[in-house]
Amino acid sequence: LPDGLALTPPMGFNNWNATGCAIDEKLIKDTADIFVSRGLKDAGYEYVNIDDCWAAPQRDASGRLTHHPERFPSGIKAIADYVHSKGLKLGIYTSAGTQTCAKTMPGGLDHEQIDAQTFADWGVDYLKYDNCNNENRPALERYTKMRDALKKTGRPIVFSICEWGQNKPWEWGADIGHLWRTTGDINDTWPKVVELLKKNAPLAPYAKPGAWNDPDMLEVGNGGMTDTEYKSHFSLWAMMAAPLLIGADLRKISPASLDILRNKEVIALDQDRLGVQARVLSQADGKWVFVKPLANGDKAVALFNENATATTIGTSAAALGLPRRPGYVARDLWQHKDFQTAGELSAVVPPHGTVVYRVSTAKWWQAEPLVSAGLQLTTS
Ligand code: DGJ
Repeated sequence: LPDGLALTPPMGFNNWNATGCAIDEKLIKDTADIFVSRGLKDAGYEYVNIDDCWAAPQRDASGRLTHHPERFPSGIKAIADYVHSKGLKLGIYTSAGTQTCAKTMPGGLDHEQIDAQTFADWGVDYLKYDNCNNENRPALERYTKMRDALKKTGRPIVFSICEWGQNKPWEWGADIGHLWRTTGDINDTWPKVVELLKKNAPLAPYAKPGAWNDPDMLEVGNGGMTDTEYKSHFSLWAMMAAPLLIGADLRKISPASLDILRNKEVIALDQDRLGVQARVLSQADGKWVFVKPLANGDKAVALFNENATATTIGTSAAALGLPRRPGYVARDLWQHKDFQTAGELSAVVPPHGTVVYRVSTAKWWQAEPLVSAGLQLTTS
């Protein structure tokens, strides 16, 4: 939506991938605390989002949604106040249907205005609007109604269209919401990450500030993939200017996963104000090259190895569209090191791995010499 919200992809947390319906207010408050204490707020994470199952099964006497008495005994307003007191924002969830997907609470269909107003009154800053139990009514109509209802409250609320890519939301989503799911649900497995990547990558032309493709929330830290795979997942989501919504329970996350989520140089690609989603420059035999133009003229390049064996993947500064120069600096955003190259950009990429370079024309003469351990940056 061209309303000044979500000018860069939303960053934050959503409990669904880690907990499903097993939520409570302590999880949400603890997450807000950890955002502050573990440097995640400082890294840009802002929205603390509650997914399905937060409400009581029935509306109250005045037709309003109300909090689940055991899971959120203090009420959602109190949670919003708490999250706001930490300088963070609160997100909530419902479905554009008669009930949500878990069928434990009412949905927003035909209750758009009263629900939007309830969320606004509580101080909610983000709404994920799911697609279950929709009575086969047209998606565009259902999501438009909630957009209008949110607007009428006057509160700035990021609107996340969770329609799973069924009705090509990339074709209409930019007028309705700030992001739209392009796929079915993620899970904590490598094949699923690759599947979602392949569905989301071709949609690059539709992404822009205030209007993002959403290949679903992160699984980094949930334990089903290797650190190399989690780094690929995170790198590729950042290259695709995807929302970065942490999906792990931060109270239990490993230091290695936390470090992946806090990589500020990779986050900077996602959050670059130019707001262009990486496009696939080349792809053959499971060797992928993605390029993302950045606001300062740099190009981000991701060399992604889909295969189960190590392989060399390469491209060049010219192929990335950089102006001709005697040399370039390629900064490896996982090794946090600068290297100099006359133009060739290549690396031996481990199985399921991704090497990410930020390539710039500036200061190339100050960087390390060409070939360095593990990277195999060479001149042509
Ligand atoms: C389906 C959505 O795609 C998921 O992200 C999650 O919100 C569940 N519904 C909740 O029931």
